Amino acid sequence: MDQAEHLDELLICRLDFAHKTVEPGTLVIFGASGDLTVRKLIPALYHLFVANQLPDPFRIVGFARRPKPDADWREELKEGIEKFSRTKKVDPEKWPAFAEKVTYCQGEFSDPGAYQKLEKLLSSFGNEALRRNLLFYLSTSPSQFAEVVEHLHESGLLAKADSGKFCQRIVVEKPFGHDLASAQKLNQELTRFAYEKQIYRIDHYLGKETVQNILMFRFSNSIFEQLWNRQAVDHVQITVSESLGVGSRGGYYEEAGALRDMVQNHLLQVLALVSMEPPVTLEAEAIRDEKVKLLKSIRPLLASQISSAVVRGQYIEGKIDGQPRIAYRREQKVAPNSKVETFVAARLLIDNWRWSGVPFYLRTGKSLPLSASEVRVQFRPTPNVLFAAQCGPKLDANAITLRLQPNEGISLRFNGKIPGTSLQLRPVRMHFSYDAEFGAYTPEAYERLLLEALAGDATLFIRRDEVEAAWTIVDPIREAWSGLELTEKEFYLAGSWGPKAADELLAARGHTWRNPQPIT
Ligand code: BG6
Repeated sequence: MDQAEHLDELLICRLDFAHKTVEPGTLVIFGASGDLTVRKLIPALYHLFVANQLPDPFRIVGFARRPKPDADWREELKEGIEKFSRTKKVDPEKWPAFAEKVTYCQGEFSDPGAYQKLEKLLSSFGNEALRRNLLFYLSTSPSQFAEVVEHLHESGLLAKADSGKFCQRIVVEKPFGHDLASAQKLNQELTRFAYEKQIYRIDHYLGKETVQNILMFRFSNSIFEQLWNRQAVDHVQITVSESLGVGSRGGYYEEAGALRDMVQNHLLQVLALVSMEPPVTLEAEAIRDEKVKLLKSIRPLLASQISSAVVRGQYIEGKIDGQPRIAYRREQKVAPNSKVETFVAARLLIDNWRWSGVPFYLRTGKSLPLSASEVRVQFRPTPNVLFAAQCGPKLDANAITLRLQPNEGISLRFNGKIPGTSLQLRPVRMHFSYDAEFGAYTPEAYERLLLEALAGDATLFIRRDEVEAAWTIVDPIREAWSGLELTEKEFYLAGSWGPKAADELLAARGHTWRNPQPIT
């Protein structure tokens, strides 16, 4: 370690001294034969195990309909790690100890007998914490959430209790409801059998390092925070673009569309973190209070405003990286005349002192030219004298870009003189890259989220009022689109940055999208 690195080490500010410890217990995954388990949950648990971050003792039980011997399930999981995990490797020396923790329990979600069977299995675990500290992960179809929780309660596995030596918690995957009314209903159903404190609603974006860093970046650096308001900021662009189409998820996507799949959760969460006020403490409730306050100050869109503030799109045949891509309507399990949006761009306004009048542009879509997520805070241009008077729009306004993924980093754009005898300016970039600074450590979002849920820390999960506030924002948009045929202008070529109308949305206020660039 050189001297500069040593000084940086000394300056590390540790904030997790009060972090709750992860107690021994059992994780029960409902819907264990689904994609999420094999692609995300088990790889995350395996990495936590290898990094000695799982409690000891610890067990994983997979609950699903199909009959399967433990050995077969373990083999499937191992293949999943090799195929989908961030390391794509299973250590032959460590695997047996991990595999031993994993058990399969076959049962129908609607069958009370299956929960008795689960109870029996848990009772066979010698340690009391393994039998009573339980984390139930609901990775089932959303229509089964309430039913599973009710059965868990009736079978005595889930006690409604907010304190005690042992505790049971529920993790609920998205989508949480399909509109405000269904989310409220689900909240009511779940809170019949568990306190809000026991419910962990997942949005995996909150588990991403770069998303967590938004608050650290804003509130631990006075130079940026002073500029983070309507006096200095012209507008903000949040882009989550994906180059993949819907692939095999057509059935789900036909019900969801980009608005429910991405905007209601991931984009609004990022928006809330970028624009919320500083919380009074770093505790879960303080942070979540500020997020809810922010979501509630987003100006509701009236039906008559939707067509000028929100753009939808659907991809048609095109090419990405030279490879032909089919139209959404030709994807598996998609109706040939589907009206479902695969792209959304929206202009939202926040009615509070900090942001009044500053447009926040949100954009997400499938089959776009590349997969990248960015927040771009675009500052106001300089006054129209000196350089700006002569260069006009060529004098780039300053911007901070938080690159959330991939090639995680933060860059600041400003203008600099091109060296030489002539007087010429051009934008230059100051860049911080996670990889260059901290090495290639990029844990999967689910690693962090599972650990937090096991520890009982709700900071990175969505509270009841938060999920409801988010539906309140998107519901009017969905209602305005419902039944409306897509017009020619709403289709976009796979491999393009969305329909033309998305550009017009910004042009109406003199703005242009800054598309994420591939960073090599
Ligand atoms: C999921 C959506 O929540 O997020 C998917 O259902 C989307 O449609 C995915 O592809 C994007 O997540 P990430 O982590 O790859 O950006």
